[in-house]
Amino acid sequence: MSDHPYNSPPPGSRPKDSGLKGAGHDGSGHEGAGPADSGHAGAGHEGARPADGTSHAGAFEPRVIAFCCQYCAYSAADMAGSMRLQYPPNVEIVLVPCTGRFDVILALKALESGADGIYAAGCIEGSCHFLDGNVRARRRIMSLQKELEGIGVDPRRVEMYNLSASQGPRFAEIAREFSQRITGLGPGPSGAARHGDDRSSGLRCGWRSGGG
Ligand code: FES
Repeated sequence: MSDHPYNSPPPGSRPKDSGLKGAGHDGSGHEGAGPADSGHAGAGHEGARPADGTSHAGAFEPRVIAFCCQYCAYSAADMAGSMRLQYPPNVEIVLVPCTGRFDVILALKALESGADGIYAAGCIEGSCHFLDGNVRARRRIMSLQKELEGIGVDPRRVEMYNLSASQGPRFAEIAREFSQRITGLGPGPSGAARHGDDRSSGLRCGWRSGGG
């Protein structure tokens, strides 16, 4: 999508050139496939997910969007793949040049469009390549949490993490932990709407009036 501000496709699709597609994901049957040459792309997981957010087994399978800084979390994801570490296939990685590009409005749109949870993963504080992008991202995440709470959406659906490029195991751990958290919370605003809960109307009001 040419007008998207990030270096990757919008939430809902994996970066075509990420080399992270399906890397290290569990449940895929492709454990051990390297990130760059796996060719498994994760698309098979996404395409197999019914529109109501459940797996074919009937269990809720959350859709999680991870905004990953290219200098740390994205490299850590690459390392996790190289180390053949497993993390959930429902975590969709969006490459950003710095978490300072994390945008509250886009995050809200992603939630409205079907994401059940969102997190940003940036450099360790003090190590951001753009000085304070990760600090600004954390402030935006906190602002977003308050806004979500105000419209009746659980603020735990968004989170900020910091890690270094060498923390492949930590990346996999974060992906597992956050996915488990969202599984426990159940379907997000748009998923809840599909199940008859009208919280999505508040979300629409939120992103129309929300700030960055
Ligand atoms: Fe990684 Fe800013 S460069 S968070």
